[in-house]
Amino acid sequence: MISDSEIEHAVAVLRAGGLVAFPTETVYGLGADAASPDAVRKIYAAIGRPADHPLIVHVADAIQIANWARDIPDVAHKLARAFWPGPLTLVLARARGVNDVVTGGQDTVAVRVPSHPVAQRLLRRFGGGVAAPSANRFGRVSATTAEHVRQEFGLAVDCVLDGGEADLGIESSIVDLSAGAPRLLRPGWITAREIEEAAGRTLAAAGAASPRAPGTLAAHYAPRTPLVVAEGDLLVELAASLTRQGKKVAALAFSAGRPADPRITWIAAASDAASYAHSLYANLRRLDETGCDAILVKRAPPTLEWAAVNDRLARAAAGAAAPDEI
Ligand code: TXA
Ligand code: MG
Repeated sequence: MISDSEIEHAVAVLRAGGLVAFPTETVYGLGADAASPDAVRKIYAAIGRPADHPLIVHVADAIQIANWARDIPDVAHKLARAFWPGPLTLVLARARGVNDVVTGGQDTVAVRVPSHPVAQRLLRRFGGGVAAPSANRFGRVSATTAEHVRQEFGLAVDCVLDGGEADLGIESSIVDLSAGAPRLLRPGWITAREIEEAAGRTLAAAGAASPRAPGTLAAHYAPRTPLVVAEGDLLVELAASLTRQGKKVAALAFSAGRPADPRITWIAAASDAASYAHSLYANLRRLDETGCDAILVKRAPPTLEWAAVNDRLARAAAGAAAPDEI
């Protein structure tokens, strides 16, 4: 339980232009006063994130969106009513006066009202917007516990609010409402179908004209070790062939088909999408820490409820070598 004095301390750090890591219902965020370009620059420096990759501004309630965005379309109000507070980010035309650092120089701004009680207390007491990317080094696996944040940043963060494990474990769904038809820029826990139902219209696919979003880069959310996603039988074969070559293998699979080989570190993932997502990043960190040569992940079902998990796994695998090059 986080005390009021911890919240007060965090607010003081934000007001002084420092960095506060805080839990949200999706993943931990690394926050700074969104109205202060100098404070926001510290986020980019700590993360190693290129300056043209924009951040999400977190606010306590939907009313505050007017401070950050202009020409807010009706569909934004519909989505806000349906999903806020919660794991949805909206990209809107930015209001005058919003600094270029937080928007990465774009004409748009991303906003979100998180539901996590600690995030809510922090944002209410602070009163303004808190710019926060997921609290991980650029391109790496997001942090879902305060301990992960400390491992990533150590003393570079002035204050870490420990709210236990993030509930959902996967970043928010991002919908671009800044130009024409709504577009899903990043799948998340709220599915495309739920968004379409609440919006009362269909979502366009994110195309080449989409604003830059590093969470949508092909290689992202990646552990240090090469990661391969494979079907169950192939995964067992791959694991066997890599161990025959003297390689150490770590696997994230569903419980069935576990090989008896002790050289393989094996985590049995939950078979429902919610529990799987909740533990995904913590599991990838654990497997990464085994010092193995390859992480093998069993492919998840290709259904809508697994869309966010499949998106993250595909990106985590994208930068890795082909299996025969490991
Ligand atoms: O669940 C979440 O969204 C977490 C928690 C902390 O709120 N935050 C998060 O932030 O995942 P980050 O920075 O890791 O991912 C935000 C994504 C990035 O891909 C970023 O490029 C995109 O949102 N984004 C931010 N502003 C944007 C804009 N104006 N236009 C398009 N994409 C934007
Ligand atoms: Mg991120």
